[in-house]
Amino acid sequence: MKRIVFATGNEGKMAEVRMILKDLGCPIVSMKEAGIDVNIVEDGKTFEENAIIKASTIMKVCGDIVLADDSGLEVDYMDKQPGVYSARYMGEDTPYTVKNNHIIKELEGVEGDERSARFVSAIACALPNGDVITTRATIEGRIGYEEKGTNGFGYDPIFYVPEFGCTTAEMTPEQKNQVSHRGKALEAMKIKLKELSEFNEMFNS
Ligand code: IMP
Repeated sequence: MKRIVFATGNEGKMAEVRMILKDLGCPIVSMKEAGIDVNIVEDGKTFEENAIIKASTIMKVCGDIVLADDSGLEVDYMDKQPGVYSARYMGEDTPYTVKNNHIIKELEGVEGDERSARFVSAIACALPNGDVITTRATIEGRIGYEEKGTNGFGYDPIFYVPEFGCTTAEMTPEQKNQVSHRGKALEAMKIKLKELSEFNEMFNS
């Protein structure tokens, strides 16, 4: 079957990915839809390393072109934590409202520019011939003083974007995808994919 598999089990992430990649001209399926259930050990030290681990591991299982995103929140005042540990921060199953309020507490008494933070997304594409390509993008913001908004997922309710005057959880999905780390990194990946002979042979022949 001609398809691209997106290596994530995160439903919030997958919803964004589907919307951003819908004009790529090929079916994008999640690991679950592809019937792949593999436990991936994300032991890389950078977003890029983890994205490559995810994409390459799943490509070896299914043989398709596989995309993966590794992303996270860097809070400058907290020495760029939780960073690559964003999903595992305070425990994988800890509700995000607990994680978010913990970060707000860590920044108690901290004002203005010192509340700076960014979301980072590294996208890796693993091709059946073993080649791997990556893209990366960020969105700059500040940690809010309380959770605001119900859209998005994860740390969105505390990620305030000054230019928009709201958090990424208060943006519509379309607005967030236009400015987000993941939206920009996937747009850059789309351009790279369309230049690849392997992609064009598979989807334009
Ligand atoms: P990954 O699935 O291992 O890449 O973990 C990414 C984690 O970073 C997510 O589970 C969230 O905690 C956080 N994260 C990444 N992107 C976003 C976003 O767009 N909004 C909110 N949290 C995000």
